[in-house]
Amino acid sequence: MVQLKVSDMTSKTSQNTSNSNTWQDRQVLVAVTGGIACYKACTLVSRLAQQGAQVRVVMTSSATQFVTPLTFQSLSNQAVHTSLWEAMDRPDAQHIGLARWAELVIIAPATANMIAKAANGICDDLVSTVLNATPQTTPVVFAPAMNADMWANPVTQRNVQTVQELLHWQMVGPEEGWQACRTLGAGRMSEPETILIQAEQVLTQK
Ligand SMILES: Cc1cc2nc3c(=O)[nH]c(=O)nc-3n(C[C@H](O)[C@H](O)[C@H](O)COP(=O)(O)O)c2cc1C
Repeated sequence: MVQLKVSDMTSKTSQNTSNSNTWQDRQVLVAVTGGIACYKACTLVSRLAQQGAQVRVVMTSSATQFVTPLTFQSLSNQAVHTSLWEAMDRPDAQHIGLARWAELVIIAPATANMIAKAANGICDDLVSTVLNATPQTTPVVFAPAMNADMWANPVTQRNVQTVQELLHWQMVGPEEGWQACRTLGAGRMSEPETILIQAEQVLTQK
């Protein structure tokens, strides 16, 4: 039986949205928060892995209601972290270790709640604490996903503005379209391919 290396398989199995060399061995931390668009984060992690990136996944407790850590563990081939209080194979605290390890952080989907926490420096779970501990030199990309009224809420919009202007972190989307709450409107998470293209631009401009 002929065994293919992952790099051989890349062009055959993934939608090659971008220059695959950009992702080779890049250390990408994907933070998954609790929205229905978690299922799209599986594709995002799979695409990154197929492009040769080293991907680690952190999840909020709410995110684990939508997709299990085992799914992301299988796709990333790495242990998935969901708690501040788990021991890690490093001497520094887990949130610091993960924040320092990442060359790029992608939050997908990014809930209204997590955007609010990031904008206000709240550190009450692993994902928000990793974000707060992320060095300002590390690029961070948010892919917001929420109901149209949540997205239109002035408090959400203020938080988005704070994240962009104070922290200089990027937003990809959201886009208009069909929402799980059975309405059409703005708040749908961008497709994984779109997130990857923008994340690649952010990474290469670093
Ligand atoms: C079925 C369901 C779908 C949800 N979808 C979203 C969503 O797409 N975006 C969002 O901001 N919140 C959504 N929520 C609410 C969040 O899960 C909730 O605000 C939670 O506290 C977010 O926690 P986290 O930011 O720690 O993941 C949803 C809740 C449920 C029950």
